[in-house]
Amino acid sequence: MHPIELALRKHPKVPLMDGPTPLQRLDHLSAALDLNIYLKRDDLTPLALGGDKPRKLEYELARAQAAGADMLVTCGSAQSNHARLTTAAARRAGLDCAVVLSQDEWQALQGNLLTVYLMGADVHLVPTADHWDLEQHVFELIDTLKAQGRRPHYIPISGTTPHSCLGYIDGALETLGQLSEQRVGLDAIYTPFGTGGIFSAMLMTFRAHGIAAPFHGISVNRPKSTCLENLDHWWAALSDLLDRAPDEPRGEHQIFDEFIGREYGDPTEAGLDAILMLAESEGILLDPVYSAKMFSGFFQHCQDGRWASGQTVLLLHSGGVPALFAYHAPIARHLKKQGRLSEF
Ligand SMILES: Cc1ncc(COP(=O)(O)O)c(C=O)c1O
Repeated sequence: MHPIELALRKHPKVPLMDGPTPLQRLDHLSAALDLNIYLKRDDLTPLALGGDKPRKLEYELARAQAAGADMLVTCGSAQSNHARLTTAAARRAGLDCAVVLSQDEWQALQGNLLTVYLMGADVHLVPTADHWDLEQHVFELIDTLKAQGRRPHYIPISGTTPHSCLGYIDGALETLGQLSEQRVGLDAIYTPFGTGGIFSAMLMTFRAHGIAAPFHGISVNRPKSTCLENLDHWWAALSDLLDRAPDEPRGEHQIFDEFIGREYGDPTEAGLDAILMLAESEGILLDPVYSAKMFSGFFQHCQDGRWASGQTVLLLHSGGVPALFAYHAPIARHLKKQGRLSEF
């Protein structure tokens, strides 16, 4: 067994995954772009409509149980995937869940927000200019809960902690196994970049296994400089947890912050185009916040001639698809502009 796998096994987790998610070749898109395009389908993880969080929450749930917690507490945007999946994970483990969410443009009782209410989370909607600043509200709630005798376990925004990043060491090992079974060699890898937990863990695992293909992180909210600082942070934390030297070479990797749009969650034209492209060519639904932004970056790179005929590219679909329903208005406008929708 590879040392990184051995080190990973020391960390307890509560199983939320039932087996590997598919690694699929996208035949139509590959033909259209004259590339070999593979998609790792983490939108199909087996918890409450899927996404990246079940892998991450397996480790945080183990920590919550070890601490004797009786509930999980977290925060996020009104359409937070993390709130949906933390609530679902809490329910699977027989725990309660409280979520502090920002009141924002996308707070319709739709998509993720609807599912959070359905699963009976204690929802606190608070006004804030930036949902990344919700911690102060969560800490106040935690104090109140403790005063009431509850034992809350706090999971920060996006679910990214040193331990939850271990979930994407698992995810990357699983992907490497599938690539090897399907005899696929890679020329490039793309992931969305939010807090950078996924990117950092996958990069570390691929490099530990000697895969040198360049990594491309498409930022969904922060400037490139902040993303690189985050990568340093998670890399150091993971090195520590996995007994690895922190100065192991990271190989070729780049962060792109030009596909964010106005702000986090902005449904950009290029992102909406990417949603239509994947839906029509492959019957695959992207989400407007993460996977569509990642594909918009990848498509731009294809247009710029970054990838040559026949090269092989792996992209990670990290989920988030329920948010699509909260974005029906900009999607409808986009379809109308393109002459694809005359009703509604
Ligand atoms: C669907 C989806 N993809 C990707 C991410 C970003 O992952 P990370 O924060 O590890 O970069 C998130 C985070 O909230 C998410 O909900």
